[in-house]
Amino acid sequence: MMASRGRAIASGLAAVVIGLGIFACGDDPGDEGTGPNGTPNPEPLFRALEADLVKTCGGTNGTCHVSGSFQQAPTWLAGPDRYVSVKKHRGVLPATKEVGDSILLTQVKHAGPALTDAPNDLYRRVSDWLTAEVPGPPLPNTGAFSVLSGFNSIPLDTVGPGLANARLTFLATESNGTLTLTALKLVAPTNANVKIDSPFFVILPRNGKVKAEPEVNGFKGELTVAAGQSVDLFTGKMILLRWDPTGRLKIVFNKIESTPGQGTTGACTALELFKSSALPAMSKLVDVLPDDDDPDNGEPLGQSSCLGCHAKEPPSDEAPAPSVQAMDLRGAGSDPAAACAQAKIWINMQDKAQSTILLNPMGKGNPQHPMKAVSADDPIIQGIKAWVDAEQ
Ligand code: HEC
Repeated sequence: MMASRGRAIASGLAAVVIGLGIFACGDDPGDEGTGPNGTPNPEPLFRALEADLVKTCGGTNGTCHVSGSFQQAPTWLAGPDRYVSVKKHRGVLPATKEVGDSILLTQVKHAGPALTDAPNDLYRRVSDWLTAEVPGPPLPNTGAFSVLSGFNSIPLDTVGPGLANARLTFLATESNGTLTLTALKLVAPTNANVKIDSPFFVILPRNGKVKAEPEVNGFKGELTVAAGQSVDLFTGKMILLRWDPTGRLKIVFNKIESTPGQGTTGACTALELFKSSALPAMSKLVDVLPDDDDPDNGEPLGQSSCLGCHAKEPPSDEAPAPSVQAMDLRGAGSDPAAACAQAKIWINMQDKAQSTILLNPMGKGNPQHPMKAVSADDPIIQGIKAWVDAEQ
């Protein structure tokens, strides 16, 4: 009784997680025994498919994933006990606790076959076994998203309760299969403090194995951001190798919590300098660069200023311009404290010279930033820097 009920629940879970519809169940030889929570005992499920898995993935005489003598294939089916080997192999039991992220299920046809093409319903049996090993729930995560070149703002609203308006922001550049994220920040909403534990970045290629490797693509430890504040995500930088530019990313947290809080958005401590030094600098004219997506639209380049772009009011009923969405200085005239708090988000408190608000105008920050770079000794940089250096 219990066994078949546990089984049905597990199959249902697999169906939800990997979206495969409904299976007939109860016809596997590995059905005996349940684990502590009524989930099936995983080992018998594995033993029941072990021989078929070796046949499909072991290759001729086991030269592929058993002995690895063929093209140094990883030996996740090595003896003496294949069950021990397979569970130890990185990525088989997904670190995200989301069965659909297992490398066994997401590997495509390579030198060997994809599991989806294997006979005897092997794909479904492997996912049932993995579901028993990793009963979930999945770790809190953002879900898959595409990465834009330049500024990205990833909402955390759906990651857990009390996280409405929390977000992660970063600048992304891609080159030769390497994705570099800088100015990585965790932004707490004004009504909640956010605490996270050991976040990691999961690469979901368009086709092929999911890479969920917290030791390689993650940070260890806890980070708390008070309501209304934004803080660099650990080092503020993450380099992801073997990135597929057509693929997607997912951010996973070992834990994320929110507690009610009351914050003013990172109020400035050097507001007077912001008004007397930074704002005048940000009103000075700079040369505008053409839109990267539309390089020769024939328009003269023209001039604007930081405030010309970042304090621009949209025509009524329209969304603010991308420049304002990235950094909203619309309060510059009427509410300088609000504008200052927005500008302050782009100061790197650990290393002020590396602040995006200074690097962007010097052409050393976001490569998509549409103004002609000015030098470090330009009065614009000097004026902003005097304020940046004074902020705490
Ligand atoms: C021609 C318009 C324009 C001008 C002039 C301009 N910016 Fe921007 N800025 C933008 C746009 C557009 C974005 C968003 C870029 C993106 O989405 O990749 C942006 C983004 C930013 C960001 C947020 C980080 C980022 O890259 O998204 C900062 C900080 C910034 N600008 C600082 C400045 C400063 C300081 C000045 C003046 C010295 C300035 N900008 C002048 C258009 C402008």
